[in-house]
Amino acid sequence: MPPQFPTGILIDMRIAGIGAGSWGTALASLLRSKGHDVVLWDIDPEPVRSIEETGNNSRYLPGIDLSPGLRATTDLAEAVAGAELIILAVPSQVMREVAEEIRPLLPTAAPDVVLCSVTKGIEVETLMLMHEVLEDVLPPEVHPRLTYLSGPSFAVEVAAGLPTAVTIAGKDLTQARRVQVAVHTPYFRPYLTEDVVGVEIGGGVKNVVAIAAGLADGMGFDANAHAALITRGLSEMARLGMARGANPLTFGGLSGVGDLVLTCSSTKSRNYRVGQALGQRRSLQSIQEELGQVAEGVVNAKAVHLLATSLGVEMPLCNAVYRLLYEGLSPQDAITELAARDLKHELPGRDIPE
Ligand SMILES: NC(=O)c1ccc[n+]([C@@H]2O[C@H](COP(=O)([O-])OP(=O)(O)OC[C@H]3O[C@@H](n4cnc5c(N)ncnc54)[C@H](O)[C@@H]3O)[C@@H](O)[C@H]2O)c1
Repeated sequence: MPPQFPTGILIDMRIAGIGAGSWGTALASLLRSKGHDVVLWDIDPEPVRSIEETGNNSRYLPGIDLSPGLRATTDLAEAVAGAELIILAVPSQVMREVAEEIRPLLPTAAPDVVLCSVTKGIEVETLMLMHEVLEDVLPPEVHPRLTYLSGPSFAVEVAAGLPTAVTIAGKDLTQARRVQVAVHTPYFRPYLTEDVVGVEIGGGVKNVVAIAAGLADGMGFDANAHAALITRGLSEMARLGMARGANPLTFGGLSGVGDLVLTCSSTKSRNYRVGQALGQRRSLQSIQEELGQVAEGVVNAKAVHLLATSLGVEMPLCNAVYRLLYEGLSPQDAITELAARDLKHELPGRDIPE
């Protein structure tokens, strides 16, 4: 018997996808496959033209046929008008400017429009998480309808219909539930949580740890180092999250260890590839030129470093990535420094004998 799906709640919604990059396009295609009326917007006419004319996004998801009937536009007002769900899938550092453009258009959306940020990162100028940026820009009546989707989800796999599980966070679970029902498919399983901060800290930190994992790989290290990096990276993520009031259990979930394992273990991750190339002594500039897409970990290494410093949270791994990217620390010196640190108890805040 085929899987049964909840029906009746916001099925066949009018949906605006903001950002026709890899993730925005993959989610838009998934949503369209359920029969929703989806309009993708992008500032860049190239992916819009490609989707409209060929049914593919040749720049961001080459070779993948998108769901028939998916529409795309460079006119933000057209995308937002009548929308019942707005998916925000732009890089973290432009979330504020995009939200500012959406704000005056919100009265044209459905009165109970729910917004879902699928962006992972911290605004480097302000050290705000995406929910803080959105609450800063958008009117208070919208705040209970802000939700956040995160977890281990490579866009290319979602676009290809491969099984994926994610977490949707919302301060108001009834709103997050609306998004859960809207995105649920036989191969895309969303869970719910109220822990917005925990989910967002996980998404911000994991890309930085992925650079470290790629670096270790690029330097020729093997499985032992890989496992140690993921585990200690998780520890740093949890420390920062708890300092911001997150539920520690969140970091054992999909948006924590789940996303960390994914991002640290595959060359599908741009951040992992950045680290790998750095480990092979290539310059950051040449790596970024070659990628031509957002590697959130690069700017988020700075944001995480600054946030951890401001909160007095020790994050040696993320700090080493920051110094590697911004202060010219060599990969070999980063490893030497990490290994030479004072010996510690494995659990935070515990002393060891003299
Ligand atoms: N790619 C993935 O597999 C994946 C999965 C989960 C989450 N994410 C997260 O989703 C977010 C978007 O990632 P992505 O991979 O889709 O990025 P991307 O680089 O593939 O696409 C970003 C898109 O945003 C557009 N954009 C719109 N307004 C912009 C503006 N003002 N300035 C610059 N670009 C603008 C760009 O033109 C581009 O099409 C990131 O935070 C990322 O961490 C990505």
